[in-house]
Amino acid sequence: MKRSSIGIIAALVLALAVASLAFAEGNARKGKFLYRQKCRTCHGATASDLSPNSKTQADWKKTFAKWEGIKCAKDWKGVSDADRGDIYSYLHDYAKDSPSPAKCN
Ligand code: HEC
Repeated sequence: MKRSSIGIIAALVLALAVASLAFAEGNARKGKFLYRQKCRTCHGATASDLSPNSKTQADWKKTFAKWEGIKCAKDWKGVSDADRGDIYSYLHDYAKDSPSPAKCN
């Protein structure tokens, strides 16, 4: 094999690795921290006491597929797309029908 084709293959493999990272679901540990910081200020106080175990995994998926439609989405302050992915992973991974349902407290 020519040197140049090895270079091209290496570049493709790298590009694929980066792409799969970009599409990977968020980090649930970070999501828990972010949920406490950005969402629990209202949820559990002035708004419904929303926790991962409030919904099933399918419900969380549906809710976040149309996150712009969530009643308070315009009130989310400083929540980036990546943050939202992390928060989603936390809520989804500890949903009431998950292996480890959790209440956020
Ligand atoms: C400024 C206060 C406030 C903040 C901050 C806030 N919410 Fe809300 N949220 C509300 C209110 C008010 C409602 C509508 C009534 C209710 O559910 O209590 C609501 C509704 C929701 C609902 C729909 C309720 C349901 O049971 O499906 C979801 C999901 C939700 N919020 C998620 C979030 C997430 C995720 C965050 C953090 C990124 C967040 N909220 C931050 C006030 C807030």
